Amino acid sequence: MERKTALVTGACVNTGYAIAQKFIAENWNVVITGRDQARVDEAVAKLSKEKKDGFVMGYAISPTDKNGNVDEQSAEQMFVYLDEKNISIDALVLNAAHLGVGIKIFESPLSDFVNVLNVNTVWNYCLVEKCAIRMREKRDGSIIFINSNTAYRAIPDRIAYSASKGAQLGMMRALALDLGKYNIRVNAVLPGMIWTTRWDNDYEFYSNIPSAYTPLRDVARGSDIADGVWYFASSARNTTGAELTIDGGNTIQLYPLIPDNKIKP
Ligand SMILES: NC(=O)c1ccc[n+]([C@@H]2O[C@H](COP(=O)([O-])OP(=O)(O)OC[C@H]3O[C@@H](n4cnc5c(N)ncnc54)[C@H](OP(=O)(O)O)[C@@H]3O)[C@@H](O)[C@H]2O)c1
Repeated sequence: MERKTALVTGACVNTGYAIAQKFIAENWNVVITGRDQARVDEAVAKLSKEKKDGFVMGYAISPTDKNGNVDEQSAEQMFVYLDEKNISIDALVLNAAHLGVGIKIFESPLSDFVNVLNVNTVWNYCLVEKCAIRMREKRDGSIIFINSNTAYRAIPDRIAYSASKGAQLGMMRALALDLGKYNIRVNAVLPGMIWTTRWDNDYEFYSNIPSAYTPLRDVARGSDIADGVWYFASSARNTTGAELTIDGGNTIQLYPLIPDNKIKP
């Protein structure tokens, strides 16, 4: 069987990197993106050490141009570049996100809100359109949004982020409906807290955020999110428009349970 290829956005570090690792472990080819060429090259070099057959490649791309508008031309160029290399994408994983931290209703300019919406919804729509038109040719494909449980439950000073993730879910369902006839499945993974380099750098702060208090007394690692992505990419043949929450049970609580023990690295 021909080796399949996944494209994972924002995969130089953290969750995106773990998702790329999962596809490599499952013997898929992987294309990762990031905004900075040097960081992309560094991540590709590291990931290549885990790859036995097939390829890992990187592509530096920015969601927005210097005016903050979504750069549709760059997105098209990336897919044309892949076409020229005869690389066809089987799974598109939309992981990159503007976290929109600290955007406050009375203090932040409207442009801050728009930037988050642009990166998390408009750019992703743009990538989906370019990728799905190619998936339509082969009547096969899986598109996976890395969403967030903050699409449903708000946390302070993250209005734009919550709005963007909520919009992403609406978009995910509408895309699933419109693309189903081409056998393109569109689904979303909804993480709660994920252990990232931010946790490594400030364990005290992150382990004390109430979102980290979950029924399972733990937060997700990148590999947990990657397992959910892998399910949608590989075996969920009859699943589209679905949401898979991976948050240690965080969202089902009426109030956060104060843990007896702190989460361990
Ligand atoms: N971490 C969590 O606790 C958590 C919780 C729920 C959901 N999620 C979701 O899970 C996914 C991965 O989370 P993560 O914490 O692992 O992500 P992350 O490392 O903070 O960000 C992923 C990548 O997105 C790109 N990115 C960041 N800001 C950007 C911007 N303004 N414009 C364009 N690209 C930008 C960066 O890639 P480059 O700098 O290389 O371009 C970054 O490496 C995201 O979709 C996030 O919303 C995370």
